[in-house]
Amino acid sequence: MTTATASSVYTAYTELLKRSLMNELNPENGLRISYLLECMDTSTPYDLDRVINATSHEQGKLDALAADPNGQGNYRERIFGFPFTMIGRARLDHLQRCVETVIEEGVPGDMLEAGVWRGGAVILMKAVADALGDTGRRFWVADSFRGVPPPTLEQDAGVDLYRDPCLAVPVEFVRAHFERFGVLDDRVEFLEGLFADTLPTAPVEQLSVLRADGDLYESTMDVLVSLYDKVSPGGFVIIDDYGALECCARATEDFRRERGITDPIERIDWTGAFWRKSG
Ligand SMILES: C[S@@+](CC[C@H](N)C(=O)[O-])C[C@H]1O[C@@H](n2cnc3c(N)ncnc32)[C@H](O)[C@@H]1O
Repeated sequence: MTTATASSVYTAYTELLKRSLMNELNPENGLRISYLLECMDTSTPYDLDRVINATSHEQGKLDALAADPNGQGNYRERIFGFPFTMIGRARLDHLQRCVETVIEEGVPGDMLEAGVWRGGAVILMKAVADALGDTGRRFWVADSFRGVPPPTLEQDAGVDLYRDPCLAVPVEFVRAHFERFGVLDDRVEFLEGLFADTLPTAPVEQLSVLRADGDLYESTMDVLVSLYDKVSPGGFVIIDDYGALECCARATEDFRRERGITDPIERIDWTGAFWRKSG
């Protein structure tokens, strides 16, 4: 821990930032929208008091959300609260530590997330770097901005995330989120399109943090094949869906085996995993 990361102002800022990114400040809104949609789906008149006083009517669901900070369940209630990231507490805390570590240790390279959804994980990386006075890196925001593509490989058969309209967030929305958090500047770069089209030729030279969050076997493999060699020694490779999606774990293991990577893979929470690249 450096003087900067030990300061109470830094700790208070990053804590409030993470709570805001996860929608912990206003979880009732997810319950409100979820309730109203349920009323519409079932042609039931809504109870205005239940909307206004969601906290008293929905205590059980609020408790369930609070008891699940790492986002393993409660998808509907969580997502309709429109957090800026769905990765939850443990993976955000871990990502913060990765950013702090590469800055403290002087590991060179930009930071990139492939599969950003509403942008919150890169917003955290950029905000932490800004708070620590690190000004020499770029922050890459790579996504189709149209949601997860339909599966084309046998390894992804049956993964129907492309049907989820909540996963399609236009690039201008994501850019606006960076602006709202006060971290949008010319060091934030957007790569719009499928990973297979954007990443192989992206003008990314070196990376200190690579975060793969594209769910599918194909998406995970596209990220690793295009960018792994650009990760500096001492850099972090983070795989968000390692525990949640068998296809993602399979891509990760296939890539590591093909490349003879023996750096130990460690678990962050029920789904996230990472390794630190040695020499
Ligand atoms: C689960 S979300 C990412 C969550 C995000 N990291 C967060 O912090 O909440 C998956 C994202 O990956 C994107 N995606 C998946 N496969 C892709 C591909 N092959 N090319 C481009 N974007 C892709 C989707 O558009 C979606 O935004």
